[in-house]
Amino acid sequence: MKPLISANWKMHLTHLEAIHTVQELSFLLENVDFEQVEVSMHPPFTALRSVQVLLDDSGKKAISKIMLGAQNCHFEDDGAFTGEVSPKMLAAMNVSYVILGHSERREIFSEDDEMISKKLDGVWRHNMTPILAIGETLEEYEGKQTETRLANQLEAALGAAPPKKVAEMVVAYEPVWAIGSDYSASSEDITKAVEFIRGWIGKNKNSAAAKSVRIQYGGSVKPINASEIMSLPGVDGMLVGGASLDAKEFSRIIQYKDRL
Ligand code: PGA
Repeated sequence: MKPLISANWKMHLTHLEAIHTVQELSFLLENVDFEQVEVSMHPPFTALRSVQVLLDDSGKKAISKIMLGAQNCHFEDDGAFTGEVSPKMLAAMNVSYVILGHSERREIFSEDDEMISKKLDGVWRHNMTPILAIGETLEEYEGKQTETRLANQLEAALGAAPPKKVAEMVVAYEPVWAIGSDYSASSEDITKAVEFIRGWIGKNKNSAAAKSVRIQYGGSVKPINASEIMSLPGVDGMLVGGASLDAKEFSRIIQYKDRL
């Protein structure tokens, strides 16, 4: 299974800065970098079109292999939803991956489990791949509630999802307390959580889905810890925030194998 490394730019980079960053990345990456890793890039909506054109027009350059991603979307295709962007609009722009349920969406924008599950359906309706982010807060971590929290989030989002869809999706384990903190979770915690997520999918969907679902880790991934995180059993990729804004840092994360 090819691991997926995703750049979540959050609310950073104007479309001009985004163009500059992708161009810089194109000098740092080569075709060989994409042989064993898939990469998705999730710019803000205002930069999506610029990044799409740049990737599409890059011909034989390695960066043309980068998949386009979004950070969020609405669940309906059209309608009176001021300020929203629909899955239909994203699919028309060749978006492949959509991050859903990021803790910042859940906490700052009050997205609840029901809404996230509707968004998953919207993304699937347009044949895109969701990256479902789940993870516990510091309080839950300290109270040893991690598995309960993960199970609740998985049940709410995927309880009714067909196993075949789950098999093809991506789940990102992102402990809320590790995001933007400069401290990633420990190898032991990551391994345990990833194993739990896969076990939940095996039990509640089927073993084929558990085997082929890709599980990313996210939370302060940096060039310095990328190879260790990727070597952990069951980890099939990483969701990278801050370190993906800098082309040099992000390229070093993509090239994590060079440091194994
Ligand atoms: P970070 O963010 O890498 O800056 O911790 C990760 C995320 O929120 O997806």
